[in-house]
Order: sequence, then C-alpha cells, then structure tokens
Amino acid sequence: MPKSVTKICGILTSGGDAPGLNAAIRGVARTAIDVYGMTVVGFEHGYRGLIENRYRILKPSEFSGILAQGGTILGTSREKPFKDKIGAFGTDSPSAVEAIKENYGKLGLDCLVVLGGNGTNTTGARLSEEGLNVIGLPKTIDNDIVETDITFGFHTALSVATDAIDRLHSTASSHNRVMVIEVMGHKAGWLGLYSGVAGGGDVVLLPEIPYDIHAIARHLEQRASNGKTFSIVVVAEGARSIDEAALDKKAFKKARAEMTGSIGYRVAREIEAETGLESRVTVLGYLQRGGTPVAYDRVLASQFGTAAANMLATGEYGKMVALQDNRLVGVPLERVANRIKTVPLDHRMIETARDVGTCLGD
Ligand code: F6P
Repeated sequence: MPKSVTKICGILTSGGDAPGLNAAIRGVARTAIDVYGMTVVGFEHGYRGLIENRYRILKPSEFSGILAQGGTILGTSREKPFKDKIGAFGTDSPSAVEAIKENYGKLGLDCLVVLGGNGTNTTGARLSEEGLNVIGLPKTIDNDIVETDITFGFHTALSVATDAIDRLHSTASSHNRVMVIEVMGHKAGWLGLYSGVAGGGDVVLLPEIPYDIHAIARHLEQRASNGKTFSIVVVAEGARSIDEAALDKKAFKKARAEMTGSIGYRVAREIEAETGLESRVTVLGYLQRGGTPVAYDRVLASQFGTAAANMLATGEYGKMVALQDNRLVGVPLERVANRIKTVPLDHRMIETARDVGTCLGD
C-alpha cells in the first residue's frame, strides 16, 4: 500500500446540493481507504456536523451505488461558522469556529476535505488560516467558482435546463406565446447563458448585463413581424433591469422585496405590457439541482475526488482541486476565497449568443 502523510481525514458537503456530490465523495473515500488505508470521517450536514461533532466513520459499503445518485449521502447545510453568533449551536463552546477546532483536534484529523461552492471554500480558506489542514473541491450548478474552468453539477443543471427549454418550444409555438423560463444563478449567469444557447433562447437575460425592456420588446416585435409567432426568453434568477442596476444595495433589496413573484414573472409582465404578446412563465428551480448526474459530472467529480485523495496522501493541504485547461491542479484556497466567477462581457459564449441572433437585453 503506498505511503500517505494523511492517516485520518474528515469530509463534509456544504452549501446547495448538486448532482455529482456523491460521485465526488466516492472518489475521495474509495481512494483514501482502498489505495492509502486512511480512515475517513464523514460529517453530517456540512459544517454544522463538524461544529456539533455529528459524524460517522465511512465504510466501503456506503459507496456502492452512489456514483449515479443525486444529492449527498452526508447531507448539507448553509452553516457559515465565521458568520454565526457565539454559542449559536447549542454547544457550550464560545464559538462555532472554536467548536470546529476542538472537534478536529479531538478526532485527531490530519486534514478536512470540504466539497462546496464559494462560501464553503472561503470557510475552508479561513479554517486553513486558523491552522487546520483543508482541501477543497469546487461544487456548484452555478459554475461561479474562480480558478477552475468548471465545477461539477453545472453540466447536469445545464442538461435539465436545456431539456426544459426544448419542451417549451412546442407549447409556445402551439399557443403563439412568449415563454419565459427562469433558471438558477443568482450572481453569475453561466447556466442562463449556456442553456440559452443550447436551447435556442431568443432572449437571454443575465445578472452581468442589466436589461432594457425596450430592447427586448423591439427584438420580440421584430420576430413577430418576421412571422415568428412565439419566442423563448431565458432569465437567470439574478437578472436585473438597467434601472435596478443603478440602485444602491439597500434600495435594490427594498425594490425586490416589494416585487410580486420572482424576476421571471416580472419580465413576463413587462413584455406583455410593452408588446401585448401573451406570455407565460416557468420557474425551473430545484429541478436543476436534483436527480442523477450526467456522465460528464460523474467523471469530473470522480477525477476531483481521487485528485483530492492523492493530495491528502502527499500532504498537499490548503488547496482546492481545479480543472485548468483540461489539467487537474491544486490552487491555493486563499486565491479562491471571497471571489466569484461571473461571465466576462467579452466571453466567447456571449459572442456566440449574439452571432446566432440572441438578444441579451441590451
Ligand atoms: O448555489 C446554487 C444555488 O442553486 C443557486 O443557483 C440558487 O440561487 C441557490 O443555490 C438557492 O439556495 P437555497 O438552496 O438555499 O434555496
């Protein structure tokens, strides 16, 4: 059995669930246990399990059949240990972070592997600064983590959204309607952009490009005058109007709190008011996060998981596994923390969308 610097490691999944999480857990744990003889401690429900010392020693039997299983066998939460109040967890520890450090030490962990998005890897970076050994894996359907070309979960969500857009075409054309579909992606529009191109969206609205309803109306009316009796409008949940983009954070939050329904419903109302074209709305929501991962995500998650286990063995701590130009690398966690990968306005996919005639709301 090859040597390993790490003898016992913890693993947790945190933040929004995503297809591929179980494939990644399987990749880490099988390699760690079967190749290197490590003990793997699975914490339940993200950082909360580590704070409350809720864990189980993972046995090989737990990984049979989970490669294609959605969700996470460990459960998840959106606990933010550095943001939560002192004593917020019913423990007598002075703080969540102190509880984490205490439990990490009591279990004699050599390293903690965290599978999650921006928040999870930022917490991982801060725990690393506090002296814990941490390795991160980039998980999110939003694909908005810096330093990696792609995150697992994205391709499955893209496939779900594209299939939904395909289906909307037939009902839109049968009723001569504008179909608005709202997809996930609060701060970054990767899912909206890629599914809009893949599904042939006529209008695609992204958080990165504040939209002008008059530009949208002109595009839809142009289509109608060219005999196109229906249109598909893809709206990222983080899309906003040019007027909203001019608001400060507080005013924007207030305006959104007063908005009836989510952004997809408002865009549909605005389109109807501007053009008179009958519009309907589909909010895809959590369907983009549920169910079995597509093959690409199973492979990517397995590669990330085994790469993390190899980094455990060599003691390459304080890094996040990433895919860069098709190479698996480890990037320092501090380079990932507190950053988000939004769609650059000169990205090739923006160009592709425009070249095929998509209106991006501007
Ligand atoms: O981060 C992934 C994500 O699905 C976002 O796209 C979405 O806005 C958010 O999580 C929803 O969060 P929650 O699961 O807490 O409702």
